[in-house]
Amino acid sequence: MLIKKPDDIKGGEITDRKVYLSRRNFLRGAALAATTFATGVVYKQLLAPQPELATPVGRVEPGPQSAPKKWGLPGEEATEYQKIASYNNFYEFGTDKYSPARRAQSLVTKPWTVSVEGLVNKPKVFDLDELTRLFPPEDRIYRHRCVEGWSMVIPWLGFSLGDLIKQSEPQGGAKYVAFETANDPKGRGIPQTDALTWPYVEGLRLDEALHPLATLAVGIYGEPLLPQNGAPVRLVVPWKYGFKSIKSIVRIKLVERMPTTTWVKEVPSVYGFFSNVNPSVDVLRAQATEQRIGEWGRRQTLPFNGYAEQVAGLYDGMDLSYYV
Ligand code: MTE
Repeated sequence: MLIKKPDDIKGGEITDRKVYLSRRNFLRGAALAATTFATGVVYKQLLAPQPELATPVGRVEPGPQSAPKKWGLPGEEATEYQKIASYNNFYEFGTDKYSPARRAQSLVTKPWTVSVEGLVNKPKVFDLDELTRLFPPEDRIYRHRCVEGWSMVIPWLGFSLGDLIKQSEPQGGAKYVAFETANDPKGRGIPQTDALTWPYVEGLRLDEALHPLATLAVGIYGEPLLPQNGAPVRLVVPWKYGFKSIKSIVRIKLVERMPTTTWVKEVPSVYGFFSNVNPSVDVLRAQATEQRIGEWGRRQTLPFNGYAEQVAGLYDGMDLSYYV
């Protein structure tokens, strides 16, 4: 997508703080968009002709050596554990794909609490062990589609976000759910680059959050999440682009108004709140096809990432070329 310089920012003007900040954010966002795009191109080149990732520099648990048959989708194999664990976006730990596997090892994940708060009758701070005792995780194998044009099939271990939200008893005024990543550089060992503003934040409409496919993941291939994958608990919304899947969550807040999100804040001209996978709408770049990591050639991208039957009804009556 072509990124235009906003008309209201003209060179040579005396810049007030608000304008300065919005220009700073715009330029940083544009630079990031360009970086991620460029990274996608480089990665595409890396894939040909031998679609193998570089050996990760950081610590990657060996994981299961051979994926049992249960891990896969009909006609689609699960992506190798090592690839899922070594090619990541986690900007707190750097803006390239390989830094998180190395640098996120500093993330302190114990003890860990998740607060469910806001417009609910039963706000509560859950210890992670309590959370998984109350909501036993199960294998959930989903396609993972990144806006940069690559995709994976990931055998998550997780439970329905909706189950957690329902037990908090949302109040009538609750319309959206806002999520927040840990933002405690010293206590949590998150160095935080100056690439984005922190904490990383995301949001869903309440009905999206209550959909059974919306998942809080605590593991991959039956093993606890690695730091680079968003340990100890992250969101997975398989019908949306990967950046909605906020990592290392500490706060889930039910709110009345549409919350802002990290990428809407950074590059509002490119990213929208909904960010449903939509091959017919370009976001950052053309989204009609994707490179499945570990495969030759490109696949057609499916509307809602192949989950249209389950989720399209959430958007009845909405023009999805407008509500991106
Ligand atoms: N969550 C946090 N806190 N920080 C991030 O930088 N990156 C997002 C999302 N969640 C990100 C995040 C992006 S851009 C993507 S594509 C996915 O995480 C990547 O998830 P993966 O590394 O497990 O593939």
